[in-house]
Parts: sequence; structure tokens; C-alpha cells
Amino acid sequence: MEKVAIIGIGQTKFGEHWKYSLRDLMAEAGKKAVDDCGIAGKEIQAIYGGTMSAGRMIGQEHIGALIADAMGLTPIPSTRVENACASGGTALREAYLAVSGGHYDMVVAGGVEKMTDVYTDQASLALGGAADQEWEVFFGATFPSLYALIAKRHMYEYGTTEEQLARVAVKNHHNGALNPLAQFPFEVSIEQVMESPKVAEPLKLLDCSPITDGAAAVILANEETAKKIADTPVWINGSGQASDTLALHDRTNICTLNASVVAGKKAMKQAGVTPKQIDLAEVHDCFTIAEICAIEDLGFVKKGEGGKSMEDGMFDLNSSISINPSGGLKACGHPVGATGVKQAVEIAEHLRGEAGKRQVENVEIALTHNVGGSGASCVVHVFSRGGN
Ligand code: COA
Repeated sequence: MEKVAIIGIGQTKFGEHWKYSLRDLMAEAGKKAVDDCGIAGKEIQAIYGGTMSAGRMIGQEHIGALIADAMGLTPIPSTRVENACASGGTALREAYLAVSGGHYDMVVAGGVEKMTDVYTDQASLALGGAADQEWEVFFGATFPSLYALIAKRHMYEYGTTEEQLARVAVKNHHNGALNPLAQFPFEVSIEQVMESPKVAEPLKLLDCSPITDGAAAVILANEETAKKIADTPVWINGSGQASDTLALHDRTNICTLNASVVAGKKAMKQAGVTPKQIDLAEVHDCFTIAEICAIEDLGFVKKGEGGKSMEDGMFDLNSSISINPSGGLKACGHPVGATGVKQAVEIAEHLRGEAGKRQVENVEIALTHNVGGSGASCVVHVFSRGGN
């Protein structure tokens, strides 16, 4: 297998982009990534583009071709990757597999979503496409309500409190306030989270990730190419993916996202690291309870200890493990197809020492964790500056 590195990164500001189309957003992120490593577009040999719901949000399918067109990269092969909210992370993995398998020297993994052109109820319906239509959505479930069920059960099983959930939002908004590309770059207090309008009890507005427009891109290269082009290549040392039942009710224990457990173990095993060695992680906090489950499922703490550890500040910026320095999905925003790629952009900035005010100090090993739906898909990657 070839070693694979990220050599170029690009991201648009996340938010509500009235003036820009999906095509404009993807082109901007792609151009930034190409400029970042100073290559010519024609050196790129293939595109993997993550998007979840362009058809329902903006009426546009055939996104693979649209991305090649928007980035001026025709006629190279360009493939859309759809895996719900894990579309971006899965595009990154497909790109990684293509380069590590020796098929290409240099490819781009992109992710994009344009969600604010429709009203929230329409966006919720489109997002609901990632849940079980027959057994969940038909009965009125939305993603906030599915994660609310997980939260309720976690509180019952382990004594997790609403304040501990709120602490996730407080931390991520603190980090997001340091990120110029975040959708909601402002601090919030526990009281503000607790007093924000209820969405699906016990989750409130400030426990939820928002509806977002945005795009991100990374350029991957094999070792020979990466060493020629990049001063600080960011190596992908492990890549794991797993699936689970689509519906929550089919799981033995809804507080554990087994796809996260399996994908995390696979990626860390390939990288030859343990959870204790991870300095920084971008995890999938689509709701505050999702971050609690993620830190437990990835093995950073034991099952049931996530809430208390969060309260104790174990995952704050530059603490034991810095979790979601970008602000996470909560404060940076969650353009679903772009999120998994944005997580890799964020990691690369930290490993290159270019993350500005939110820079995690002495970071050597970092991880991304991108979930689809209520945990039916998960993709985990492990990165380092030094390679395997
Ligand atoms: N965090 C912080 N502020 C938020 C926010 C969020 N998640 N969502 C909206 N806001 C703010 C808006 O900026 C707006 O502020 P303003 O009044 O100062 O302009 C205000 O709250 C109301 O925004 P609005 O867009 O009307 O909210 P909404 O009620 O239509 O939608 C949610 C709120 C939480 C229902 C929506 O963001 C949502 O569905 N989120 C979950 C998305 C999801 O399921 N993703 C997939 C995960 S698997």
C-alpha cells in the first residue's frame, strides 16, 4: 500500500450563503486547496465529492460531474459519494483508498451542501432521508427526536445531566468563537443553553447543530508526490469505516454507536495508536449527546463517563484531548456533505501549526470521526505529521 498525505486544504466560510450556489461554494473550496499546495489543477487525476441531499435541497443531482465542471477539472473521473452526514468522511476514505491502492498519484476529496435554500421543515424532511423512512420518519421522528431518545436513555442509564450536555455546546461555541470560518462564532453559557427553546426534550436549540451552507476540499497524494510538493504533509495513518442498523430500535443498546466503535478500532489499529495517544479529535457532534457518545465509543473515556468528563473540562482546548477545536458541527456549522472533509481540513491546520488562536499545542496524532444518520454509518481517520 502507498502512504497517503494531505498536501492541500481549502474551506469556505460555513453559514447562510444567499449569494453563492453549491457550485460556487465547491469551486471556492477547491481553488483554495489547489492554491494552498501550489499545484496546477491538471495534476489532479480524480475527484471524490461528498454530498448528501443536493437533489432534495436544490434539485441538483449528478454532483460528481458538477464538481469537475465547477473546478475546471473535466475530463477526469469524478464520483459523487453519498453516505448521509458521513458523505464527506466517506469521500475522503474513497480518495484515500484510491491513492493508497496505487490507482492515482494525486486526487481531491471534496464535500459540499447547500441547505438554506429551503425552509427548516423541508431541510428536516430531506435529512430524515438518512433515517428509517418506514419505521422512524413515517411515525414523525426527525433527527433531533432520534438523538433525544439516545440522550434520554443515556441520562437514565448513566445519570448524565442536561447541564453536562450543555457543557458540550459551551466548549464548542468557545472554540468556534476562535474560528473565522465558523457559522456561529460566539460564546454561550450553560444558562443560555438551558434556557434556549426546546426542540425535542431534553435537546434544546443550543444542543443542536444548525442548517448550513458550505464546502471543503483536501488534496491527497502518494508519498513520492507529497514529498516533492508539500513542506508539511499531513499523513493519513489509518482509515476505518463501519455500518449499523438504520433504525435505532434494532440496536441492543442505543447509547453505543457500534459503527463508531468498530470504525474507530479499525482506524486506530491500522495507525498503531491507542485512544490515549490522540491529542486532538474532530468528532461528530450533530447534537450535544452525539459528542458524549463519540468520546465514549472511541475509547477516550469509559461508557457512561462522558458527561462527567465533559463537565470536568477534560476535552477543552489544550486539555487532555482537545475535542472539536473548529467549534464542531455545533458552532462551526454542519453542511452535511462537507462536514467530514472540513474535519480533515481542521486537523491539517493544527498538524501544520496554522490554526491561529485555536491552535492545539504539541499535537502529534489527531483523529476525525464522521457519523451518518443516527449512527448507521461511521468513518474514522487517524492523522500525523510524521507518518507511520
Ligand atoms: N445553534 C445556535 N443558533 C441557532 C441554531 C443552532 N443550531 N439554529 C438556529 N439558530 C439561531 C438562528 O441563527 C436564529 O437566530 P436569530 O433569530 O438571531 O437570527 C435563531 O436561532 C432561529 O433560527 P431558525 O433558523 O429559525 O431555527 P429553526 O427553528 O428553523 O431551526 C433547528 C433550528 C435546531 C430545528 C435546526 O437548526 C435543526 O433542525 N438542526 C438539526 C439539523 C440536523 O438534524 N442535522 C443532521 C444531524 S444528524
